[in-house]
Amino acid sequence: MRKRVIASAAAALGLLLAIPAAAADAGPGAPGIGDPYYPTYGNGGYDVSHYDLDLAYEPATDELTGTTTITATATQGLTSFDLDFALTVSRVTVNGRTAAFTTSGEQELVVTPAKAIARGHRITVAVTYSGIPSTVQRYGFTSWQRTPDGAVAANEPESAWWWYPSNDHPSDKATYDVHVDVPSGDQAISNGLLLSQKTKNGRTDWHWRQNKPQATYLTTLAVGHFDITRSRTRTGVPVINAYSTALNPATAANARASVERTGEIIDFLSGWFGPYPFDAAGGYVPNVTAGFALEAQTRVFYSPKFFAKGADSDVAAHELAHQWWGDDVSLDRWSDIWLNEGFASYAEFLWAEHEHTGTPQQLAQDIYDAHPADDPFWTVKPGDPGAQNQFDDAVYDRGAVAIQALRDTIGDHAFRALLKAWPAQHRYGNGTIPEFERLAERISGKKLDGFFTTWLFTGAKPASFPAQP
Ligand code: ARG
Ligand code: ZN
Repeated sequence: MRKRVIASAAAALGLLLAIPAAAADAGPGAPGIGDPYYPTYGNGGYDVSHYDLDLAYEPATDELTGTTTITATATQGLTSFDLDFALTVSRVTVNGRTAAFTTSGEQELVVTPAKAIARGHRITVAVTYSGIPSTVQRYGFTSWQRTPDGAVAANEPESAWWWYPSNDHPSDKATYDVHVDVPSGDQAISNGLLLSQKTKNGRTDWHWRQNKPQATYLTTLAVGHFDITRSRTRTGVPVINAYSTALNPATAANARASVERTGEIIDFLSGWFGPYPFDAAGGYVPNVTAGFALEAQTRVFYSPKFFAKGADSDVAAHELAHQWWGDDVSLDRWSDIWLNEGFASYAEFLWAEHEHTGTPQQLAQDIYDAHPADDPFWTVKPGDPGAQNQFDDAVYDRGAVAIQALRDTIGDHAFRALLKAWPAQHRYGNGTIPEFERLAERISGKKLDGFFTTWLFTGAKPASFPAQP
């Protein structure tokens, strides 16, 4: 599902000249969707509306097998098209007919259907595959994290390649059905609502559904032994959390003390960002060694490291803020990562104020003061940090200071309106920093190009904070 289609030149010409869709204007889909940081991520020529994953996983051997069926629409005539994937494929069908396939580069699966597909036509692609994801390296790593009792798929930007074929870019969002068959006694956790859990012959099939458009990297899977809790937000949204039973008891208690506040934090953030956009919520804490968290849509991934020393609701506030800033409104290009991380970090300031542990103004001031002008911290531009610095402190911390500076510049009334208008206007879609700038200008009635240049696009410390209105 894409709002803006980065159309190929051929398709654009076809539209311009009103050439009827025909095999004559068909060609190969581009191997990348046109991202400035990751030219090979995502693909051209089609738009996915739904993924249906039908998988089986063996925790003992890390063997993953199954079929992913993708429903898409051709945005150009296609003689072939790419998917992004790293496991071993045994069969591909397109609209029910066997298709030829080959691999190229780090993650391209090139599919050639028996018959060219006309622009505007529906494509149903079924890919059957198997692999041991923890052993498959791309660009020198795997995002698939094996645990003593299972595995986890959670990373950014690359995560899907190790478990399902996709158009792997946040500009093409889709709904999901995830069916995972595991030994009974194990749990399989994914996004959205748990529709069913069926046990037969020593196996349990878990069926999860995400009804709202979801970016590929926000689709997550965890298999292992988990305790599952259920509650609801104030507005009745079901909250499903899962905790590995292998966490040490102190970590497990801290994890619950933090993650069981999910509903309360969502209620609080709804006051700032508007209604919670999804029909499910929650998080999971598996027994991984990785030290990060990921805002998987409706089911946040938390490393147990966050809970090793005490309860930490800040990380939950950060990841739950991403449900609006990143998940509901997603990036159109990875260079706009500030729209995700800046606002999720600023939400920690808002939560601190709610918890009486600090104010946004003071927390921003502390970051501004802590970094002298010659600190390399200021050389990274939050609005275009470079692929290597996508998750640099400057994107999070300087990015959050920039948001406080914006609040000081446009005033509290306009700021509050802006934080609700952005999700309302881009609901279930995508947005860019220039679009955000235009909305901020429209709501505040101020010209802000100088402000954004200073705070997001200059590799130097802004001369003053609070910003001069
Ligand atoms: N979006 C994640 C967050 O909540 C960052 C993930 C970074 N990825 C990683 N492998 N460290 O901030
Ligand atoms: Zn974040």
